[in-house]
Amino acid sequence: MREWKEIIWILSVFVCSVRSSPCNSKIYDGAFKNLVCVCNATSCDEIEPIGEIGDGKAVVYRSTLDGDRLKRMSMKMGQKLGKDEVVNVTISIDASERFQQIFGFGGAFTDSAGEQLFAVSEKVQEQIINAYFGENGLEYNVGRVPIASCDFSTHEYSYDDVGEDFELKHFGLAEEDLKLKKTKGKLQLFASPWSAPGWMKTTGRMRGGGAMRNDKRVYEAYANYFIKFFEAYSSHSIPFWGLTIQNEPSTGADMTWRWQTMNYTAETMRDFLKDYLGPKLKGNKLTESLKVMILDDGRGLLPGWADTIFNDTESTKYADGIAVHWYGNLYSPAVLLDITQRHHPDKFIFGTEACAGYAIHHGPIMGDWFTAENYASDIISDLNHHFIGWTDWNLILDEKGGPTWVNNFVDAPIIVNHTANEFYKQPMFYSLGHFSKFLPRGSTRVFTKVDGNLAVSAVSVVIEGGQRATVILSKSSNSLLTRVVDSATGYSLVLTLPPRSIHTIIWNKRK
Ligand SMILES: *[C@@H]1O[C@H](CO)[C@@H](O)[C@H](O)[C@H]1NC(C)=O
Ligand SMILES: *[C@@H]1O[C@H](CO)[C@@H](O)[C@H](O)[C@H]1NC(C)=O
Ligand SMILES: *[C@@H]1O[C@H](CO)[C@@H](O)[C@H](O)[C@H]1NC(C)=O
Ligand SMILES: *[C@@H]1O[C@H](CO)[C@@H](O)[C@H](O)[C@H]1NC(C)=O
Ligand SMILES: *[C@@H]1O[C@H](CO)[C@@H](O)[C@H](O)[C@H]1NC(C)=O
Repeated sequence: MREWKEIIWILSVFVCSVRSSPCNSKIYDGAFKNLVCVCNATSCDEIEPIGEIGDGKAVVYRSTLDGDRLKRMSMKMGQKLGKDEVVNVTISIDASERFQQIFGFGGAFTDSAGEQLFAVSEKVQEQIINAYFGENGLEYNVGRVPIASCDFSTHEYSYDDVGEDFELKHFGLAEEDLKLKKTKGKLQLFASPWSAPGWMKTTGRMRGGGAMRNDKRVYEAYANYFIKFFEAYSSHSIPFWGLTIQNEPSTGADMTWRWQTMNYTAETMRDFLKDYLGPKLKGNKLTESLKVMILDDGRGLLPGWADTIFNDTESTKYADGIAVHWYGNLYSPAVLLDITQRHHPDKFIFGTEACAGYAIHHGPIMGDWFTAENYASDIISDLNHHFIGWTDWNLILDEKGGPTWVNNFVDAPIIVNHTANEFYKQPMFYSLGHFSKFLPRGSTRVFTKVDGNLAVSAVSVVIEGGQRATVILSKSSNSLLTRVVDSATGYSLVLTLPPRSIHTIIWNKRK
């Protein structure tokens, strides 16, 4: 049983018990403190609810290299510093300078993640679902669903592998998609294809680069293939919020690419959207309001890719946003996102894929704090450069970082141990939680400035009702005395950031 999506139903039916169990830690060998939290059928750490924020108080959640994992604390606002005390860092938040609205955070329902989920007992499955989607878990509200197979599948398949079937008479969801159940509530799904069925490509197979055959019947059939996907899921009561046109289209230019991909340039994506996919989606009641995202690839391709599609008065009508992956960020500055946003202020920018363990080290590093830092650092930067949300890659993988039919092993926030029927929450699980749990959908990012130490970064939102939330990452190896100032009200908080730590601070606007 490796069908993943059946589990989505649990999201609508399970009931959370309100208890908060501490992390059951396991420490691995490493130069630093490589700590994971172990969960099994009967025991799993949960996050203490925010609860009442008393007058003049703030609620603080802290994770550290040293071993805190979303540990809740209550602190007093407005404390005075001692006579000779000088803060190391000042973080100023200006709630009057408002930017994008937050849409959400989540991960990907890949075939591999599904296989791992079903490899453990039902009780453990529930713990995993609870950890990600439950009230005392990360409260993920976004999910990515691959349209057919990708590198994190056990084999190559599309939903219609019968050659020259232009009418898609043989279309059908795969075994991997079956046993679907209802999804309800705040989880919003978007879908992404890695490749059209092989017979629609010049190369005859999904694996490796190459474009769609330049044949009207193929373009037409592939546009219908998307519609059929959404219809099939809808028939199992799973609605979608959006889609990307193609996962990492730039890799499709590489004929030797090791897994499923398909070649588009910005121009060919624009033309397929404008002439085939866009009109088809708009012409169908079920799909007319889906959010269509272009790119789904590294930000190094911006702003050019967006300009090509959105400066065309026809194709721009059919797209709502830009999907961005984090790979290659080291070589392409975040200012590219600002330029893109300035060119196209009516389109949103959304993070649709990131993972650790894909370069140099392939696979999980158990308990590695530095991947948690990389996640937090990237999310803070992305949100400060207009992202409306951030989507992680595989929700769950095995101890090797698979299964992956092309041995493209990577890391994931939850690693399952079949032998022990237990799973491990990696530090990056908590790193994601500092955002997913406390920056709710509909909150608005506001101006945040960090002075005093380059190893500190921060992002802030205001939540409906005036509540504020700030996430602070310190990569410093020293403790830093820090003042957080709400400059609109003069309200401030003084706290010490322990070495290598992530904090989320939530407080109410001063009356
Ligand atoms: C689950 O973990 C808890 C805490 O370590 C332990 O007490 C319990 O025996 C474990 N249960 C199983 C079924 O392994
Ligand atoms: C923090 O500030 C104190 C007081 O100015 C100073 O002694 C200390 O070196 C600072 N720490 C760091 C890491 O900059
Ligand atoms: C990718 O598409 C572009 C535009 O059609 C084309 O110039 C290029 O040769 C294609 N590359 C491959 C490998 O198909
Ligand atoms: C696309 O439009 C934007 C905003 O109108 C403009 O700044 C940019 O130069 C245009 N790019 C191209 C390639 O036409
Ligand atoms: C998985 O469980 C087995 C059996 O308890 C243990 O030997 C192994 O080290 C565990 N794997 C990890 C990554 O902790």
